Amino acid sequence: MSDRKLKNILVTGGCGFIGSNFINYMFGQSATGSREFMDSGFDGRIVNVDCLTYAGNPDNLSGVQKAFGGTRYFFEKADICDRSAIERIFKQYDIDTVIHFAAESHVDRSILGPEAFIKTNIMGTYTLLDVARKFWNVSLDNQRDDVLFHHISTDEVYGSLGETGYFTETTPYDPRSPYSASKASSDHIVMAYYHTYGLPITLSNCTNNYGPYQFPEKLIPLMILNMQEGKNLPVYGEGKNIRDWIYVEDHNRAVWQIVKDGITGQKYNIGGENEWQNIKLLDKLIELTAKEAGLNADDVRKTIVHVKDRPGHDARYAIDCAKIKKELGWERKMTFEEGLTLTVKWYLSHKEWIERVQSGEYLKWIDSNYAGRK
Ligand code: NAD
Ligand code: DAU
Repeated sequence: MSDRKLKNILVTGGCGFIGSNFINYMFGQSATGSREFMDSGFDGRIVNVDCLTYAGNPDNLSGVQKAFGGTRYFFEKADICDRSAIERIFKQYDIDTVIHFAAESHVDRSILGPEAFIKTNIMGTYTLLDVARKFWNVSLDNQRDDVLFHHISTDEVYGSLGETGYFTETTPYDPRSPYSASKASSDHIVMAYYHTYGLPITLSNCTNNYGPYQFPEKLIPLMILNMQEGKNLPVYGEGKNIRDWIYVEDHNRAVWQIVKDGITGQKYNIGGENEWQNIKLLDKLIELTAKEAGLNADDVRKTIVHVKDRPGHDARYAIDCAKIKKELGWERKMTFEEGLTLTVKWYLSHKEWIERVQSGEYLKWIDSNYAGRK
């Protein structure tokens, strides 16, 4: 057990995919109704700071807002690069813990326009770290164990694997896309604040998440919705790239476990131990979606189109998560079959959410950048 206060937690990016699932989890509100996940035991306050980009949606937290808004849950619409807003929020809520999810997260967008990634992922992280350091008055001579800055990162910082091997916590960084380079940069700055200024930090690097509330630009929700709408299923290149998939609530339980019990200054890899070639995953997804949506799977398979590959497309990601399992006793709970079925059902039954997120900037962006691909 650590001496961390964990009373007034600043969650950044809490209206996005993983962040909103995290806040729902903390307050016992699973989007998929999977009760076994809802045991966070958290009894403090959460302040959610999100500037609501195309990927942020406060509707994801309507249950939490209704039950805890103004008492244990507070939403602040602010940009993490806005130093004065962040300083005000630290002071107003007496923040003792930061769990930093906010980021530009989509690789394809980073290829088309890296600037937002550099700003939010690097400058935004720097701003939060620096405000935290000053607000908590920490230094190498004045170290504290009652406060914590937890940084959420990705396995993409490690680069691309061949057919064998795994990323461990000591794998050298080798990012390839503007997104992963910006995340790698933020990881290094987080570590620098620990070593140089004594800021108490933990860091986690996770594999590909799936589950409810994921913006339908990412592979799984995009494919489910395209199937439902009778659109083509665009596979980049041959579809042989491999990703390691984890259900979002398994990731979030790991994050909370690290925040509670992780060793200050340490990083933890989080993985699904669940590798799939894109084309094989798509086949599985077609089978499940066709069943749930009453479609003919063979007809759906005919809509697969192999499109131009993503530039610098990383071949394989696979995480060795032995450290968090051994040191913190974390285990994955969701099977891929069950998690994927829950996810398919969720997307097929949340028309209103989908229409809303697709009505704005996302559609404009897809039309201007990817119209020829679909
Ligand atoms: P997301 O794109 O769904 O959500 C990001 C959220 O951050 C949105 O609500 C957005 O409005 C907010 N945001 C963006 N810029 C901001 C800014 N300048 N100020 C305040 N808020 C801002 O992302 P996600 O998939 O939920 O990812 C969350 C975190 O997890 C990211 O740090 C990402 O790098 C990391 N991660 C994601 C995955 C994955 O599979 N999605 C895997 C590993 C790690
Ligand atoms: O590994 C963790 C990372 O996973 C996170 O850090 C990122 O934030 C998250 O976006 C995700 O990155 P990926 O690039 O792996 O996810 P994406 O869903 O975009 O793509 C998954 C794989 O599917 C990848 O190999 C590209 C391929 N793909 C993707 C799309 C959107 C296609 O073949 N067709 C598509 O239309």
